[in-house]
Amino acid sequence: MEPLTRRQALILAGAGTASLVVGGAGLLWSTDSGSNSAAGQMLAEPRVMRSVNGALQVKLSAAEGQARVAGRQATVMTYNGGLPGPTLIVRPGDRLAVSLKNGLSKVTNLHVHGLHVSPEGNSDNVFVSVEPGKSFDYEYQLPDNHPPGVYWYHPHHHGMVAEQIFGGLYGMIIVEDPTPISVGRERVLVISDITLDSSGKIPAAAAMDRMLGREGDLVLVNGQVAPTLRLAPGERERWRIVNACVARYLKLQLDGQHLQLLGMDSGRSVNPQEVTEVVLTPGNRADLLVTGVAGTSALRTLPVDRGDAMGMMGTGARSSSDSVDLATVEVKGTTVAKRSPVPAQPPQRDLRTETVAATRQLTFAMGMGGTSMSDGGMSFTIDGQPFDPARIDSAVQVGSVEEWTLVNTSTMDHPIHLHVWPMQIIDDQGGAIDDPVWRDVVNVPARSRVQVRIAFDDFPGKTVYHCHILAHEDAGMMGVVEAK
Ligand code: C2O
Ligand code: CU
Ligand code: CU
Repeated sequence: MEPLTRRQALILAGAGTASLVVGGAGLLWSTDSGSNSAAGQMLAEPRVMRSVNGALQVKLSAAEGQARVAGRQATVMTYNGGLPGPTLIVRPGDRLAVSLKNGLSKVTNLHVHGLHVSPEGNSDNVFVSVEPGKSFDYEYQLPDNHPPGVYWYHPHHHGMVAEQIFGGLYGMIIVEDPTPISVGRERVLVISDITLDSSGKIPAAAAMDRMLGREGDLVLVNGQVAPTLRLAPGERERWRIVNACVARYLKLQLDGQHLQLLGMDSGRSVNPQEVTEVVLTPGNRADLLVTGVAGTSALRTLPVDRGDAMGMMGTGARSSSDSVDLATVEVKGTTVAKRSPVPAQPPQRDLRTETVAATRQLTFAMGMGGTSMSDGGMSFTIDGQPFDPARIDSAVQVGSVEEWTLVNTSTMDHPIHLHVWPMQIIDDQGGAIDDPVWRDVVNVPARSRVQVRIAFDDFPGKTVYHCHILAHEDAGMMGVVEAK
């Protein structure tokens, strides 16, 4: 096993499990609380809430409470007392109704990351504010042709996002396949990170965290530190993975096991792709098939260099995500018969052959001269301006295809995310045309540019694009797009 981070090892010295203890009246909203049991070190799954007859109605209560993380008592933020919150499973065409209750001491709201739904009214509207003690009823109508895949939900109130997600507010949304894929088991792996001080509280973010993005001392899988997963040789499992970290990039490897990627974000290749690693920037998701090969493997994230802050805050502080062992995978027992092949998926739309109605360039920059303490004296801008909810930065036409060039002038990578409409990454190297690559978070490496095309097919309204290093978003690296 790769060594754990120093802090992780210290904390693990006490106990190996992370389980949730629901503490304090008011934290419990319903029986959908307390997803993690204290049953040893096996990977625990968040509670599941599944749609019936085309509808899923859930209550999500965001509140601060006590949880056991890495064997210690911790004060975290949860949905319904679970770290992570419940997994919501829906199908294309379903109606998802979420009644969000804000039991936190600060304003919050809810975003359904990656879902192709309206950004208006009480749908996926990030301009909504839910004050402490108040509730808000969201309702999302998924189109009949909504892509199946892995999505997630998290708070999105500008200025609070990094703190609330780092605190524990996240959960997975699965849009099921019309034709199921034969597997022995489906698993949810919500990967997040957190830092706890000696009293089990999350310390306030330091200036450096606000500049580089905050990486926690502990990396959690479904709220647990280094859990174990067990499967039989030859068994095929489906792992749906979300990177819910607010800044940490994940480069996942599972040496010795057979991995096939079904898709990432809402993108899905026609046939599963054999892979040896999967890179997830904050916000990205993977839909992965794992076929067991006898032996013990570590699910590990390898180091990712995501640039530095050259000349800022005096030094060239580097921001690289560390190598961490996330889980142990034990494959043993009687070999299981081979499962039927994965049915071919419908080919994805390819915007490279479509007419572009408009082109646009967005420049993401970091500099000195932020005006408030909250951004550590730095500025985080798009086209020279910090976020202003009252300003429309990009006006697009419903029904049109646009080509956007995402330019990063800074010395750090920025994972750029657009709500509602996925982006197709355009290969402009002139090489062979392979499968279209669709993402809703696109990494734009330091001092480089990436071209994407977006089909604004439906859903008039206002929403946002931003850096998914959430400290950058909170400090202003976000813009407003309006489709009419
Ligand atoms: Cu995952 Cu605008 O967010
Ligand atoms: Cu989003
Ligand atoms: Cu950024």
